Parts: sequence; C-alpha cells; structure tokens
Amino acid sequence: MRRAPSSALPGPEPSERHDWETLRTLVPYLWEYKGRVLLALSCLVAAKGANVAVPLIFKRLIDALDITPGQALIVVPAALLLAYGVLRFSTSMFTELREIVFARVTQQAVRNISLQVFRHLHSLSLRFHLERQTGGLTRDIERGTRSIGSLISYTLYSILPTLVEMGLVIGILFAQYDAVFGAITLTALAIYITFTVVVTNWRTALRRQANELDSAANARAIDSLINFETVKYFNNEEWEARRYDEQLQKWAWAQVKNQYSLSMLNTGQAAIIAIAVTAMMWQAASRVASGAMTLGDIVLVNAFLIQLYIPLNFLGVIYREIRQSLTDIERMFKLMNEHREVADSPGAMALPPGPATVEFQAVGFAYDPKRSILFDVSFAIPAGDTVAVVGHSGSGKSTLARLLYRFYDVQAGAVRVNGVDVRGLTQASLRAAIGIVPQDTVLFNDTLLYNIQYGRPEASREEVEAAARAAQLEVFIQRLPDGYETRVGERGLKLSGGEKQRVAIARALLKNPAILIFDEATSALDSKTEKAIQAQLEQAALGRTALVIAHRLSTVMNADRILVLDQGRVIEQGTHAALVDAGGAYAQMWALQQEEQGGPMDDLVPVPAT
Ligand SMILES: Nc1ncnc2c1ncn2[C@@H]1O[C@H](COP(=O)(O)OP(=O)(O)O)[C@@H](O)[C@H]1O
Ligand SMILES: [Mg+2]
Repeated sequence: MRRAPSSALPGPEPSERHDWETLRTLVPYLWEYKGRVLLALSCLVAAKGANVAVPLIFKRLIDALDITPGQALIVVPAALLLAYGVLRFSTSMFTELREIVFARVTQQAVRNISLQVFRHLHSLSLRFHLERQTGGLTRDIERGTRSIGSLISYTLYSILPTLVEMGLVIGILFAQYDAVFGAITLTALAIYITFTVVVTNWRTALRRQANELDSAANARAIDSLINFETVKYFNNEEWEARRYDEQLQKWAWAQVKNQYSLSMLNTGQAAIIAIAVTAMMWQAASRVASGAMTLGDIVLVNAFLIQLYIPLNFLGVIYREIRQSLTDIERMFKLMNEHREVADSPGAMALPPGPATVEFQAVGFAYDPKRSILFDVSFAIPAGDTVAVVGHSGSGKSTLARLLYRFYDVQAGAVRVNGVDVRGLTQASLRAAIGIVPQDTVLFNDTLLYNIQYGRPEASREEVEAAARAAQLEVFIQRLPDGYETRVGERGLKLSGGEKQRVAIARALLKNPAILIFDEATSALDSKTEKAIQAQLEQAALGRTALVIAHRLSTVMNADRILVLDQGRVIEQGTHAALVDAGGAYAQMWALQQEEQGGPMDDLVPVPAT
C-alpha cells in the first residue's frame, strides 16, 4: 500500500513567515563559527568600500585631465593613478579573502545539517519509511543540502554586498550632488525591489509545484527500476513508461509555466532600470551643458549607475534563488519535524546484557486502525527456551517479531523483556539484545565480508569466518573467485535467495545476541542445506531465548513450545508431540505436510527464492 508522499501534495502557500522560520533554524549552524562570520563580513565591507572609491578616483582623474585647450598638462596625476590601481586590486582581494574565510563555515554547516537529518531519518519509524518513497526522500535531502550552500553564497556574496554598495552610492549621491540624483536612484530601487519581490512570490508557488512534480516523477522512476525484475516478468515496460510519462508531462507543463513567468519578470525589471538610467543621464547631461557639473561628474554618475546596475540585474535572479533555496531547505527541515512514532520514553532504562525472557501479554495490534492484525496474543519464552510460531501466511507471525523489536508499539496488552515493558526500555539496548534473520533479506551493495561483518562491525576476521561456517556459507564462498570480497549487487540481487538468507543467518549469529528471532530463516533453502543449517541454528539457539517462525513444521519439531497462529489469534499451543496428539489444527497441518512431502524431514516443498 504505497501512498504518494503526503508532503508531495501542493503545500501551503509560500509565506515570508516560513522563510524567516527557516532562516532562524539555519542561523545557529553558522553562528557556531562567529569569528569567521565576522571576519568575512569585514572583508565584504572593505571590498565594497574599495569598489565605490574607484569611480570617485576616476572622476578626479578626469577632472585633472580636463584642461582647457592650449594649456599644457603640467604633471601626470601619478598618485591618483596609483590609488586607482590599488583600489581596483583591493576589491578583488577582499572578495577572495571573504570567500576563503567563509568556505569553512558553509561546508561545516552543510555537513552538520546533513548528518542531523540522516540521523533523524534513521530514528523515524518503519511505518514512515514504508509509506515514504526513498527516491523522493533522497531528492529532498539532496536539494535541501545543496540549497544551504546556495542560500549562504547568495545572501552573503550577493544580497549583502549589493545592499552595502547601494547604501554607499546613495549616500555619496546625496552628499555631493543635487538631491534629484539620489531621489531617482532611491525611487527606482524601491520600485525595482517591490516589483521583484511581488512577482517572485507569485512565481514561488509555481516553482514549488514543479519541484513536487519533479520529486514525484523521480520517485516513480526509481520504484519502477527497483522492481526491474518484476517489470520484466510481466512484460510491463510500456505500462511503466506510460506511467512515468504521465508524471513527466505534468512536470514539463509546470516548467513551461515557470519559464513564461520568468520572462515576464525579467522584462519588467529591464524596463524599470532603463527608465531610471535614462532619467539620470538626462539630468546629468543638462547640468553639464549648463556648466553646473563637470565632465568628471557625469563620468562618476554613469560609473555608479553601471556599477549598481550589474548586481541589480542579478538581484531578481538571486531573490528567486534565495526563495527557492529556502523552499528546498524548508522541505528538508520538515523531515526533521517528522514525529518519531516510536521514541524512548523519558525514564527509559537500559536492558542489561545477559539471558532474557520474553513475554507477550494479551497483545492486540493493528498497523492501520481500520484493520486489526493481532488479537489477545499471550505467550512467554523463558530465558534459554525456543518457542516456535506456525500458521498460514498473513496470520501475523512476522508482526510478532516486529513488535518484539519494537518497530511498532502495541495497542493493547504489552510486550515484556525480562519482565519490563519494551516501551520502558531504550530502543538501543533492546535492539542490541536481539538478533534477527528476517523473512526477506536485503543486503548492502557491498562485499560479502562487509555484509556479514555488519552484524558486529568490530568482529575479527576469524569470527566472521566462524559465523559464515555456521551458516553453511564457507563452501560457497570458497568457490567464488573473489571469495569474501565478492560484491553482492544492489540489495544483494546477485545472490540467490538461499545465499542471501545464509548471509543473514551468519550476521545474526555474529551479533551474538541474547534473543534470536528466525523469521522463516530457511524458507529459501533446499532441504539438504536446510537440514545442515538446522543443526547449526539449534546449536545457536542453545542457551539463548529464541522465537522461531516457521512455515515448514518439520523445522520446529524440537522447539520447547509451538504456537499455532490463525488470523491473529493463538489457537493452540504445546509441544510437537502434545499438539499432534491433540488432533487439532496443528495435527492436521502436520499430516498434510507429511503427505505432500512423502515423510517427515524429507524432501520439502521447494519455496521459490525471494
Ligand atoms: N506495514 C504494514 N502495514 C499494513 N499492514 C501490514 C503491514 N505489514 C503487514 N501487514 C499485514 O498484516 C498481516 C500479517 O502480516 P505478517 O505478520 O507479515 O504475516 P505472516 O504471518 O505471513 O508473517 C498481513 O495480512 C499483512 O498484509
Ligand atoms: Mg511473515
């Protein structure tokens, strides 16, 4: 039951409030490096000061050279020329210095935030991850972290310098010239900024929509590629392509709308600037004609304008980028607000190492409130015992394992380990005590060694090899040209179902936990390997508390107690002998399986590798 990621629906309208919140969340990560931030800001002001001084020197230079014809130039204004060169160089030097000083701050902030999001995602519930599509999720994180870098560089390297420069220029214009110049510049800037902000806000909604469609298309493609084999089995390439294209089509249309609105914005901005520049030059030219201003002055006003015009021209783009970055960052931070369904309670205690008892007491559970899965399930596993659970597919066996592992919390009753409700234990200590061989094993796209060692990363090579031997993997690995270094492919797809299952067994054994769960751990093995492993599993379960979920009854005959689960209820329990004697559901299943298999412990029904 895959659901479209809930946050992929058109979100709330963009608002300044959201942006401020996002910025507020971000600032502490930067402020951690106060010293560098302040130093970078000083470099910024210095660079802009030098930049604004250049036209001033230039004006003096022009005025010095502007002598009446016939008069000879007495000296070349060497000092002015020198100052001109030094200032030009200082602009670039301070800019580069600022970048050098600030690079560490940006990268460390990106690193810290990425790490925090990653940790948080791992702390979220299985439910969240089952419902959320991984493709969309990784996209959100990728875009979010990338946007932190852009946001910082746009703000610090563009907006702030431009504001500083505007302040300086307007100040000089008002101080040295007729107020009309300052007034025109100020008015034009005000109109320009207002126009840009208003139109860009409207465009952000379009942008958001395009992003969401982009995520959705990507999630659909990834899901389809993950199911590559299934697509082939059903010859559904065309169907998949059509589904993908549907999403692409929506996305393409959103992008086109995006482009229309962008062009509109750019045209408007250009018009405002053109009008302002014309008005300024008009004023300046008429003053030069009347002798109120020198030639140097018109050069100065023109240089200021051009200098302001360049960053201003980018201001629109930058404002858009900043808004977009904020949108992307907000989306990533939203993941951080995703609530943890299963969390450690305030007074949670650590489960001490050592033997453990397990008890399910009148457990009732539903994944979805509309459909209950378990009803009043009670049983106990004394420390060191093995309890087996059998029952039809879908009766809730794997759910028992998930509840013991506390992937979900029960709705009624309690699951206890060593007499303590698992909700009162820290998740880390509970999970450290449990080793599980899940029904479907998924492996990391790495080597066999890595995947086995994952059970206990600090285990020595000898311990890894012993675990592999116990899981009947040794012969298989010896036959591989690359041995332990063989790569297993994405999700372990290069191994057969049985091989994957044995890797899962090896790493669970390596973990050496007090409680072991085997969830149909040998279902993908042939009967010969299964028998060989069976002895090892029984050996491994010796002295540990074990919950063994089995499809084939022959594998659990030796369990201390067997529960028969039917549609979420325990309908029978007892030893193998007692249950066969009782002549109930178990005895029936037993008779049936023996019939099918032509005798106990013999050829078993081959189960397709998963
Ligand atoms: N994450 C989930 N969300 C909703 N329903 C689920 C989920 N996982 C399993 N179920 C349902 O719960 C029932 C029991 O599943 P499970 O415990 O895996 O059965 P099994 O006995 O075959 O191991 C099944 O009907 C299954 O469809
Ligand atoms: Mg199952």
